[in-house]
Amino acid sequence: MALPASDLTKKADGRTTMELGAVLPRTAEVKDGHLFIGGVDMVELAQTQGTALYVYDEEDLLNRMRTYRDSFHALYENSDVVYASKAFLNKEVARMACREGLCLDVSGGGEFACSQMVDFPAGRVFMHGNNKTPAELREAISAGIGRIIIDSRIELGRISQIAGELGVTQDIYMRITPGVEADTHEYIRTGCEDSKFGFTMNDDFAFRCVADVLAAPNVRLAGLHCHIGSQIFALHSFREAAAVMVKLLARIEREYGYRIEELDLGGGLGVAYTADDQPSTIADFAEMTTSAVKACCAEEGIELPRLLVEPGRSLVANAGVTLYTVGILKTLPGIRKYVAIDGGMSDNVRTALYHAVYEPTIANKADQPRTEIVTLAGKHCESGDAVVVDMPLQHPDLGDIVCVFGTGAYCYAMASNYNGQPRPAVIFVRDGQARVVTRRETYADVFSRDI
Ligand code: LLP
Repeated sequence: MALPASDLTKKADGRTTMELGAVLPRTAEVKDGHLFIGGVDMVELAQTQGTALYVYDEEDLLNRMRTYRDSFHALYENSDVVYASKAFLNKEVARMACREGLCLDVSGGGEFACSQMVDFPAGRVFMHGNNKTPAELREAISAGIGRIIIDSRIELGRISQIAGELGVTQDIYMRITPGVEADTHEYIRTGCEDSKFGFTMNDDFAFRCVADVLAAPNVRLAGLHCHIGSQIFALHSFREAAAVMVKLLARIEREYGYRIEELDLGGGLGVAYTADDQPSTIADFAEMTTSAVKACCAEEGIELPRLLVEPGRSLVANAGVTLYTVGILKTLPGIRKYVAIDGGMSDNVRTALYHAVYEPTIANKADQPRTEIVTLAGKHCESGDAVVVDMPLQHPDLGDIVCVFGTGAYCYAMASNYNGQPRPAVIFVRDGQARVVTRRETYADVFSRDI
């Protein structure tokens, strides 16, 4: 794995921190040259908590949860927002989602276990996964999980059997691949036909499988689900998916005489990773999806289903940042300027994995313009280990605290212990207070399972 060729034609943008726009957490501000989030000085926080460090703006998180909930409720009474916890899960964010009245999407037994540790009502939990194990299914069903999204006929048989053994009827959704190609990175595109997920609509397969689902004992077909991909900017993809799904609901009602009450359109709303990104707002997303569902239902002459959406990234990405300390500077004239930081692919694998792009700033020089193009290299034994590739930064010096914005989604969640690196702590900041919500791993933690 190597870094992409350096782009020496790139020009420093001369932007200061506050000019980074929608990338910033809501309460970001600059005082005396230092970056503050939630009223907390990021330079001081780095000094007291150590780096690398994940920091979340609690007010921003709450605001996004409430905006999602309220935008959907205002436009569509019978709707719910299901937080896709794969984007970022620890006990505190699960408690927060619970208090804000959200439902929770868990992918498998681990995320479900976390929800149960904080007494998240099981009835508001939705379980996903293309290969949930029988043990995971049994735990979820016996705990009274709200919905299980089934991915295949094999799984239908498993759930039906386990629910029967436990003497319950389990509410399930069928996950459909609606054949809508969302405009995003192929690794995170899921709704197209060649997908390991869900029931394909090719050859009418999904429609024919409905018969099996309706005939299966101990399960109730409560809804249909689709998820067309992630980091989607083009809202029309959601409208297209909604249309396909409503047509399928209507056809099932006509031909099987069975009314499916719920429709889950998945997640996928894109966020601003760079100052030039202009994603749609949560309100626009709510407007597009609710109006598409209403219009299609009217056209098909069916009742409005309960509508669910499953945002992950757009709830947490911009609320989170990562702080690092600059340890090594290395300039290769005509090639690249490396700024080595005390983290890397262990705390943010997205750059190596998807060529993700992030905006960095120096927290102790936040009022200065970004005048250089640098690569923030990680500390791991791998050439492709970088968090930021060829982006503008203020002139770096050893010991500077670098803040990388937009790292709130799929960074902590995908962190590893590569090279024995302990995973960073997670800090929530608000009203001038910082609290540790996940402590930093120790070396003892990292090797604690070894016999
Ligand atoms: N619902 C389902 C069934 C999903 O599979 C996902 C994401 C979501 C909801 C939430 O999607 P979001 O709103 O976050 O786009 N690791 C990749 C992202 C993988 C997304 C997987 N599924 C990344 O770092 O970009």
